Amino acid sequence: MNTDEAIRQRASVRSYGSAKVDDAVVRELIELATQAPSAGNTQEWVFVVVKDPNTRQAIGDACFGRTFIASAPVIVVVCADMDKIEAAYGERGVSLYAAQDTAAAVENLMLAATDRGLATCWVGAFNEQAVKNAVNLPGNVRPMAMITLGYAKEKPRKPARRPVSEVAFSEMYGKPFK
Ligand SMILES: Cc1cc2nc3c(=O)[nH]c(=O)nc-3n(C[C@H](O)[C@H](O)[C@H](O)COP(=O)(O)O)c2cc1C
Repeated sequence: MNTDEAIRQRASVRSYGSAKVDDAVVRELIELATQAPSAGNTQEWVFVVVKDPNTRQAIGDACFGRTFIASAPVIVVVCADMDKIEAAYGERGVSLYAAQDTAAAVENLMLAATDRGLATCWVGAFNEQAVKNAVNLPGNVRPMAMITLGYAKEKPRKPARRPVSEVAFSEMYGKPFK
């Protein structure tokens, strides 16, 4: 699968089969996630791979009733070491770069998963303290996003995108990009 195909085929999957995901594959996905850019190459990202059913349930319970999350065979909790990014960039690092750096890593991971026939969903709606407790994160490590990972039960329907003509401008805001 080339890059364009992986980008187009990736779609959020919220229904997983029971097939397990190889640890070696998860390791590969995380290594590819770490190829993402980060501010000043700070690489403040931290990945916690969760397979244990009780921990998955605790994480699922932190997601405001979204039951599909615990049903995925793997949940990757993507975190940022806020001390690290603050030491490098102060307030801008904490309020902006931590989110951007981990988001870039998340997207890498999801595209690499798509390329391997795996399904993912980016989960952002969760009780942070409950997730921290579930995986024993220290105070300075903030859970930024979670990725469910597994094999899709059914082919997802990817929602439509706004056209380029609506979201891109030429030279200045409001001037159509043709
Ligand atoms: C920052 C962020 C947070 C998200 N949080 C959730 C979430 O909590 N639960 C969920 O089911 N999907 C979540 N999603 C997935 C989006 O709903 C999904 O990407 C969007 O509807 C587009 O669909 P697609 O991923 O199939 O292209 C999130 C996506 C992003 C980027």
